Amino acid sequence: MRRIGFAALLLACSSNDPQVAPADSGPVSTDSDDIPKCDLAVSKGPWTVAVDGTSAKVRWESCQSGGGALTLNGKRIDSKVSQAIVTTTNDVPLRRTADRAGTYFMHEVALTALEPATCFDYTLTQDETAKGRFCTARKPGDTLSFAAIGDTNPGLGDITKMLDTAYGTKPDFTIHAGDIQYYSSGLESYGFWMDKMRPMLRTGAFYPSIGNHETEKPMEREEYIERFWGKPGFDGNSDFYRFESGGVWFFALNTEIDMDEKSSQGTWLATQLEDAAKRPGYRFSVVFLHRPFVTCGDSGQNDALRKVYEPLFTRTKVKLIVAGHMHGYERFEFGDITWITSAGGGSKPGNVDENIARPECVDRKAKGTYWNMTVFTVKPGELSGVTYDEKGAPRDTFMRAVP
Ligand SMILES: [Fe+2]
Repeated sequence: MRRIGFAALLLACSSNDPQVAPADSGPVSTDSDDIPKCDLAVSKGPWTVAVDGTSAKVRWESCQSGGGALTLNGKRIDSKVSQAIVTTTNDVPLRRTADRAGTYFMHEVALTALEPATCFDYTLTQDETAKGRFCTARKPGDTLSFAAIGDTNPGLGDITKMLDTAYGTKPDFTIHAGDIQYYSSGLESYGFWMDKMRPMLRTGAFYPSIGNHETEKPMEREEYIERFWGKPGFDGNSDFYRFESGGVWFFALNTEIDMDEKSSQGTWLATQLEDAAKRPGYRFSVVFLHRPFVTCGDSGQNDALRKVYEPLFTRTKVKLIVAGHMHGYERFEFGDITWITSAGGGSKPGNVDENIARPECVDRKAKGTYWNMTVFTVKPGELSGVTYDEKGAPRDTFMRAVP
């Protein structure tokens, strides 16, 4: 058994959210000792990261020591187990949940020699109700689909119907525009979040970007982000990385650290975009990040960085940029690039028109104050998207020609 070199936040038992207090249960104690200690064989997950044409990493958390495994195509594959000592208890008194300090066991199965362009279902041996799915990278030129969502706060907004509808279309994977979980809402622990976000985590691979709410609590970044989502892609790290499917390259950025073109992140982005654009079978690229470069809503935008990076994006055929942070939905069409604000994962709705006087707003083609997520489809020569609201109703559709 390998021992993780960092302490990790303890996550409360997640199964069926047993700690949520009934509405008529009277005053809620903030004493986490009242909350049952987790003894679940599978307490978080499973989810999948770092998928390419032939490999994938499946991860989950257990409150029990000992080995684990998954079964895939009738074959049992053992996990590597990392013991995580969690030092911090984060109470969520309004939900009577807590991510408690203690000892946890992270499992990872690094699958290799998989069939390309194939979707796989797997089951964990520690709990046969714990199942998941992922798809290996499509071949260049093939059709693929993926989901985009941001600012996921399912403890505040009920996004169940939206998730069920969008993930019912079986996208290959999800890109997340940051602000993954909100302790600040007072309504969420990671244990609660993991249960509510199961459709996202179990339908396909999960690719996060880092937002400002990933560092709400002391040690949250070190003990949570790295433990669950560490190194989720390729050719980078946990802040910025890339992956590819079907000849489309995806680039995750972290807007909470330096993004200047001379920064390590900026030079990495330019180098990796230029490299991807030279690869055989290259079609176009997608960039996803938290704080928007452009928005008409109630948050700042970043004209300077947009000016810096637009020539690079144009040169390397970036066709789609997905941001979060401004709690609503927006779609801009600037020349050859579609810019989407996708920050509707249940967080408190914002004012999408607060900065409507910004000159870029004449090119805003769609907006919405509803909770939202978008499912994109890439076909030969075409990128299209359908944006769903919290009722699962389609609210915006778009299509653009792509290589
Ligand atoms: Fe944010």
